[in-house]
Amino acid sequence: MTQYLILLAQKHESFRKTELEALAELEHVSVDLAHHDDNVPLLYVTLECEEDARKLIRRSILARSIFEVWGRGNSLDTLHEDVKQRTSHLWPKYKHVSFKFDVISYQGSRPKEEQREIIESFSYVDFDGPIRMKNPEEVFTIVEEYKYTTDLLESKERRELKDICFGRFIASSQRDIIDQYDLKKRKYIGTTSFDAELALISSNIGLAAPGKIVYDPFAGTGSFLVAASHFGAMAVGSDIDGRQIRGTAKSNITTNYSQYNINSQFLDTFVCDFTHNPLRPSFRLDAIICDPPYGVREGLKVLGSRNAERYADKLPTRLENGDLSHLRPDYIPPKKPYHFDALLDDLLCFAANHLVDNGRLCCWMPTANEDYGERHIPTHPDMNLISNCVQEFSKWSRRLLTYKRHPRGCTSSLRPITKSTRIYKEQFRDKYFRGFAKAKDHESVEWMEKSL
Ligand SMILES: C[S@@+](CC[C@H](N)C(=O)[O-])C[C@H]1O[C@@H](n2cnc3c(N)ncnc32)[C@H](O)[C@@H]1O
Repeated sequence: MTQYLILLAQKHESFRKTELEALAELEHVSVDLAHHDDNVPLLYVTLECEEDARKLIRRSILARSIFEVWGRGNSLDTLHEDVKQRTSHLWPKYKHVSFKFDVISYQGSRPKEEQREIIESFSYVDFDGPIRMKNPEEVFTIVEEYKYTTDLLESKERRELKDICFGRFIASSQRDIIDQYDLKKRKYIGTTSFDAELALISSNIGLAAPGKIVYDPFAGTGSFLVAASHFGAMAVGSDIDGRQIRGTAKSNITTNYSQYNINSQFLDTFVCDFTHNPLRPSFRLDAIICDPPYGVREGLKVLGSRNAERYADKLPTRLENGDLSHLRPDYIPPKKPYHFDALLDDLLCFAANHLVDNGRLCCWMPTANEDYGERHIPTHPDMNLISNCVQEFSKWSRRLLTYKRHPRGCTSSLRPITKSTRIYKEQFRDKYFRGFAKAKDHESVEWMEKSL
């Protein structure tokens, strides 16, 4: 077993470990990520071989690169001691290759002169190959991490070296594709298009991969479809709003697939209300990745009548020419308001029915920061919540909830679905428009009790 250092992006910190865990599962790499710290972009791991190191980050968005650790210390002297002890047997292997040295510093930096002195202090490794700044065969990197301490006597902050590592560069991640998928460069987008970086991360966490079918039941402009297909999955989407998924003749989801040259990964889209989903019960999906409607732009609606009882015994309307009105192509079905939490419960039930064993549901959910609690997270006896990653805004957050479908036939110890116990007093939409201030009693709509 060899020690490796993963350099992580300092963004979306709460998603980093979940993404790496997913990639380790997908690539069958055994790794312990327990030392991951959201506050530190350096993660030391132990892996079986260099191939595993490459596999672990080759499609990561939140890792930047991975290095084989040649030594580590809390000062330059202890680092040199460790390098000599761990790697003197490796030096002859790299004696004649072209190489360069890099210095990466976290929470601090050194002047160029000092960096050169540090690089020269490694002369004992005795590399004789040419130094090449462009495309060298090997890159050796010094990674430093500083910490700040308060000097009580002088009452000011002091910067101290916390950790210094010397490593051989092994591989980069796929972080550079964020730019390629950037919404600013995408041909077809809408007001609901989802941030490209987070869509790619969601697809990694959803284990989108060649040979898998990924479904987005709230596909809109297809942000999750292209992200899942980028990683090789076959993607299919649906939406209640046909205009979104059709786009225009020149600019639509298919033209986005052409833009990224991934047309072969696009299955299709269809128009449907999720609460009346037409997929046959035996149709199995490998993953469901979606951003359900929060009802902020317009109240959440599903097919149905507000006053179903009134129409219960009425026959379908027949037009003068004898056609049944609901069978005409221009028929617009009635819609009724629905509750976001109820939609999430429906989504979990749908996922439990349609996902393959161990298939994943990744769904985004908004929460108000003031009163967020575990009780807001939907549960289902067949769906195991494996992560809850959060992207925080000032008063609210959105969470990526990831569930794994229990293998069928295994008994689950999870609580049953909590429709009756969840807090349905107020919709996220109401809180959003109130600016997340505390609700007055009369503003708390006992909506769920009335409508379910
Ligand atoms: C938050 S947006 C997701 C947008 C999408 N991720 C994209 O890339 O554009 C929610 C989508 O759900 C759709 N929607 C709303 N109610 C729905 C329902 N009952 N069934 C299916 N889709 C619905 C909306 O039309 C909207 O496109």
